[in-house]
Amino acid sequence: MDTVAQQDNTNKIDAQSKDDWKSKVNKPAPDLRPKTTDVTATKGTDFEDYGLKIELLRGIVEKGWDKPSPVQEETIPLTIAGSSIIARAKNGTGKTASFVIPILEQLDTTKNFIQSLILVPTRELALQVSSVAKELGKYLNVNVMVSTGGTSFKEDVLRLQNKESPVHIIVATPGRILDLAKKNIANLSQCQIIALDEADKLLSQDFVLIIEEILEFLKKDRQIMLFSATFPNSVKQFKEKHMADCKTVNMMDELTLKGVTQYYAYLEEKLKVQCLNHLAAKLQINQAIIFCNSTKRVELLANKIIEQGYSCFYIHAKMEQHHRNKVFHNFTQGQGRFLVSSDLFTRGIDVQTVNVVINFDFPKNSETYLHRIGRSGRFGHLGLAINFITDEDKDNLIKIEHELDIQMLPIPKEIDRNLY
Ligand SMILES: *[C@@H]1O[C@H](CO)[C@@H](O)[C@H](O)[C@H]1NC(C)=O
Ligand SMILES: *[C@@H]1O[C@H](CO)[C@@H](O)[C@H](O)[C@H]1NC(C)=O
Repeated sequence: MDTVAQQDNTNKIDAQSKDDWKSKVNKPAPDLRPKTTDVTATKGTDFEDYGLKIELLRGIVEKGWDKPSPVQEETIPLTIAGSSIIARAKNGTGKTASFVIPILEQLDTTKNFIQSLILVPTRELALQVSSVAKELGKYLNVNVMVSTGGTSFKEDVLRLQNKESPVHIIVATPGRILDLAKKNIANLSQCQIIALDEADKLLSQDFVLIIEEILEFLKKDRQIMLFSATFPNSVKQFKEKHMADCKTVNMMDELTLKGVTQYYAYLEEKLKVQCLNHLAAKLQINQAIIFCNSTKRVELLANKIIEQGYSCFYIHAKMEQHHRNKVFHNFTQGQGRFLVSSDLFTRGIDVQTVNVVINFDFPKNSETYLHRIGRSGRFGHLGLAINFITDEDKDNLIKIEHELDIQMLPIPKEIDRNLY
């Protein structure tokens, strides 16, 4: 049964506490955050400083790019010299050009073979990356091919066999390119550079074996570039196995639990909604994010909260990205007191108006816990995290406490207002 809690529990909230809750609905403070430094804090270098090919520079200038972004400043000098790299950077900080520029710089278009492979998790991203590569490589006569699942295999074969226009760079999803390589249609034996965008996804269990198989087809001394917003264990393991001499660039503040007071409430599954109601009535919540472990539970819980007349949004993995971004944006602008969410934040919650986070369903591993509760060190404000723990979660609680070296206390009757 996948109900959030038994229906009748919500009815136990008496009129008094409901009024309390409502009287405390005050508009959250405005978010006065400046634009984050991962977009603005450059060292002031220019693309000209890298000694790039003039044709490539022309492409960059025509694209309208003035100066490299911070992640480009950190990685390009290393990658154009052939270093393998692991770079951690958020989306929207200039990641794509960070691997496209060194690929184009090292390309020799007088040679008629595949020299670089760019792997991405989705077709949509493949098309985006390929269009950046084509624009930047406009004056290099580079031939870029997109090859992803869900399109005609035969067309890929024809494209690769077209001697008039030999492919130099392939932007692909893993399954399709492996297929083409295995059938000897895509010859990767002289491919010198491989870039993985969204490497955390590409190296997840679903893909990692395919990626390792693809690597077998490449030159032995290939350059590997990994770009990722997070560094889960799967990425670390891949690094140890395949990237002995790589450089690491980290453009993101580490997540920290500093300043976050963490409590747990030990309860039965069917009492979760009731407990949430009581917390909402008691705590001085400015804005709160509540995490559930499935799409369905997110919707059910959000509807329960809304039914009671409270302002609440929800976001989950099955919503369209575009819509999800809108909802999240509105929430960060102070609309809605509650946001119910599944695990989508690759980063901690950098919403300063959120002073309470509730794990309605406790996560199963410390990485997820950190992403839900952790804050980037930059802002250093206080917050409260409350974990609902059922019998099922006890082992995970102990494991996560141990792995993150934290100790959660049972939630006290009164919580000091100065803690959040
Ligand atoms: C989510 O949490 C509920 C309640 O704790 C549990 O019954 C269910 O198995 C969990 N689902 C997943 C996918 O972990
Ligand atoms: C976001 O807020 C705007 C302005 O209030 C509103 O028009 C829009 O419908 C909201 N979008 C979502 C998805 O909540």
